[in-house]
Order: sequence, then C-alpha cells, then structure tokens
Amino acid sequence: MSNDSPIGIFDSGAGGLSVLSELLKTLPNENYIYFADSGNCPYGPKPADTIIALSDCIARFLIDKGCKLIVVACNTATAAAIDHLRATFPIPFIGMEPAIKPASLNTKTKSIGVLATAGTFKGKLYIETSKKYASDVNVCYQIGEGLVELVESGNMHSAEAENLLRKYINPMIDCNIDHIVLGCTHYPFLIPILQKILPKNIEIVDPAPAVARQAKHIAEQNSLCINHGKTPHIEFYSSSSTAILEKIMQTSARFSPSSHKISFFDNIEICK
Ligand code: DGL
Repeated sequence: MSNDSPIGIFDSGAGGLSVLSELLKTLPNENYIYFADSGNCPYGPKPADTIIALSDCIARFLIDKGCKLIVVACNTATAAAIDHLRATFPIPFIGMEPAIKPASLNTKTKSIGVLATAGTFKGKLYIETSKKYASDVNVCYQIGEGLVELVESGNMHSAEAENLLRKYINPMIDCNIDHIVLGCTHYPFLIPILQKILPKNIEIVDPAPAVARQAKHIAEQNSLCINHGKTPHIEFYSSSSTAILEKIMQTSARFSPSSHKISFFDNIEICK
C-alpha cells in the first residue's frame, strides 16, 4: 500500500455517490474504488448481523484491491458495522454522522425532522447523538420506506417519489421543523423534489460535505494523501449492475465533469 493507493467507498447501492461527489471536491487528486452492493439493496430493513457480514465482505474486497482508507458511505452500514470494521481491519474507516448535532444547534423553532432508514434509527450512533445534542429539541422522525428503491430504479424525479415524500414530510411541516436531516445517503438525490415541496424556511441538512472533510482530515493525519501528478481513476464495482451508477454520474447536478478515468465492473461476487 502506498499514497497512490485508492480510497475505498461503499454503500448498499447508488446512495454513496452523494458522498463521492463531495470527496471529489475535497480530495480531487485521489484514486477511488466504489463498491455498490446493489444485489443486496436495501440494507435499511435488514438485521444488523446481516449488514455486519456484508460490510465485512465488502471491506475485504476493497482492502484486497489495495485501499488505504475506507469511507462507509451508508448510514445504515455505519450504524450496524462501523465498530466491527474498525476492530477488524488495520486501515482507517470514516462513517456517516446522522447530522443531528448541526440541526439541533441551529434550530430556532426547537423542532427538527430526521428522515432515515429503520436500521439507522435502531443504531446506537443515532440514539446516542440524539440524547447528547437533541434532548431539548423536538425530533420529528420518519423512516423513508420505499425512497431508496425509487433512487435505485432511477425514479428519483417521478410523481411517485414526490407523493411519497409529501406523505413523509407533511407531518414534519406540521411539527414546525426548520431543519430536515437527510439520514440516508440516497436521499440527497431527492433534493430537487424536497426543494419543491418544503417551505423556504426549512433547511436541508446533508452530512456528505462534513464526512468528506473528515475523510480529508484523516487522510492528512495518517500521511495518506496522494503525491503524484498522474490522471486519477475511479473504478465502480457492483454486486449486480453498475447502470444506475453510470446514469447518476452523467445526470446528477452533484457531479461536475471530472478529469478522472472511469471504469465499471458488474456482477461482482463478494462473501464467496
Ligand atoms: N444509502 C443507505 C443509507 O445511507 C441506504 C440504506 C438502504 O439500502 O436501505 O442508509
């Protein structure tokens, strides 16, 4: 492993691209290997043991490919598996933060909304962060059932997505929230619809930029930053098809054209 080694990043599917888009801004010269476990998506309703086993296999795959640090770009996998990953493998792991802290510190109405998966709400990270930062704040939380599937199927701009989001968001608006925390990395791809349906005074909190800054900090602290002038590359692997990754990379406003050389690999078997 050297400084030229790639940064690994994984998610249950395409959601981690919302974090990759931020990593490309904070660490633009790095090589990346992205693993989408689309064959096992969604993770949200799965038991923690299953998510730990899948995350373990993906981490082994990324480390075998030479990754020097891994960003767990999935709130659900972070909630279930980050302690296991850190205790098992010798490289740094950066996980997702539920972003309840900035929302709770900045709310004026003393009411915030959190949209996440069932697995994330069950995790000790969410429970402890809420206790620590949101004890004097009304937290209006909602499991975003069905939203991950809409993003994975490329239907994030559909009427179905808008109707489902209205169903989830309207009770939060009634709760007088002024911040909504996106507690799942798939949800930033729904921001165009959220902006349409949310009143202007409600701020959308996406933790991806803070996670990318933390990844940069950890890479620098461990002297892992890249130090050559070659064209960097991104390799995308999926346990089913990479088609949705390619589509989002080409169409999402989060990605500006990058100078990375990009390749895609389908139907990768992990946990053999
Ligand atoms: N992107 C994952 C997360 O941040 C999605 C979970 C799922 O697959 O249900 O939680």
